[in-house]
Amino acid sequence: MAIRRIRELGDEVLTKRCKDVTKMNLRTKILIGDMLDTMYEAGGVGLAAPQVGVLKKIVVIDIGEGPYILMNPEILETGGEQRGEEGCLSVPGKAGVVTRPNYVKVRALNENMEEIEVEAEELLARAFCHEIDHLDGKMYVELAEGGLHDVEPEGE
Ligand code: NI
Repeated sequence: MAIRRIRELGDEVLTKRCKDVTKMNLRTKILIGDMLDTMYEAGGVGLAAPQVGVLKKIVVIDIGEGPYILMNPEILETGGEQRGEEGCLSVPGKAGVVTRPNYVKVRALNENMEEIEVEAEELLARAFCHEIDHLDGKMYVELAEGGLHDVEPEGE
């Protein structure tokens, strides 16, 4: 396992669409392990593969209840609304107010290439939306009401 360099806003790789994961192999296993290490080391609650320069549909999320590893995630359902502070490891020292669904249901593959469905609310739902956006080359800064403000360097 290793810590990878986190790409920051302005890096073109963060604007690209990612490709589906079609098979699990050693390279992808190592990538997932490195993404978890990198997220935990940086103190984030989520990380998407393009943030470490890899254009594959993989996200890791841990809001403090253990990790979710999702490949090729798709949002099947959303419900409600939440408005709150959001940050991103690719935009260090900044945060902004973003409105997201309060509930999401996501279909994805887990690290064993098994199809799973996960339901999430509140912070976890926000993390799913934020990380899945990264796979489409979208950053939360485009959604932040009234722009970004300075915070201590940590975030999603
Ligand atoms: Ni992010």
